[in-house]
Amino acid sequence: MTVVTRVLVLNGPNLNRLGTREPEVYGTQTLEDIRSMLAAEASGVDIDLRQTNDEAELIGWLHEAVDARTPVILNPAAFTHYSYALRDAVALVTEAGVPVIEVHLSNPHAREAFRHTSVVSGVATGVIAGFGAGSYRLALAQLVRGT
Ligand code: DQA
Repeated sequence: MTVVTRVLVLNGPNLNRLGTREPEVYGTQTLEDIRSMLAAEASGVDIDLRQTNDEAELIGWLHEAVDARTPVILNPAAFTHYSYALRDAVALVTEAGVPVIEVHLSNPHAREAFRHTSVVSGVATGVIAGFGAGSYRLALAQLVRGT
């Protein structure tokens, strides 16, 4: 098994507002709280957490993941539901044999109908949703320990 030393944790639009954005849905933890939680969980693993509201930037980071063969935890946020360009970029990563775990804080299937579709899930390695910040923690455990 490959030893994982670095994980890209990529976050899409509006997730920079975590902490104050609909706390009843997304909880009160900020992205920085999530970053420190992940870093504490996996010592020796470089947690490279990034957020953007820009689809092109997110796609560029996925290209970087292919080139560097860096496993990815991806919360595509609203791009989940409609961005075929993002889906194609995720496919580039997983087709190269590099894992991408799609995560969501909420359970989109328990919410509005438009959130029930993910155009990303079909090319992701796996999907974890509905556990708040725990979705990221479970994804990291899977990438690092395979558990
Ligand atoms: C989300 C769910 C999406 O439907 C929504 O657009 C988000 C966050 C989640 O983490 O629960 O921005 O990806």
